[in-house]
Amino acid sequence: MVTVRVCVGTYCYLQGGQQLAQWKNYIPKTLMDKVTFVGSSCLGCKEDNAKPPYAKVGEVLIERATPEKIIAEIETQLELIN
Ligand code: FES
Repeated sequence: MVTVRVCVGTYCYLQGGQQLAQWKNYIPKTLMDKVTFVGSSCLGCKEDNAKPPYAKVGEVLIERATPEKIIAEIETQLELIN
């Protein structure tokens, strides 16, 4: 099981996090039972060079997160686990 944290802070939400929070729209059915999605408070946009929206797959922080990036990291981590 992989945990995905999607930032629901205002900055990320306005920069694409809203789409990421709708995870049931983009996660393949084959991964549904292997992933837990949770909303998260700020994951790190306070840096000078922030790259929202942010998400975290396991312990891996993803900048400018997209559904494609999140799915790729989930698949990578599941391969490592299995
Ligand atoms: S509001 Fe999303 S990382 Fe800060």
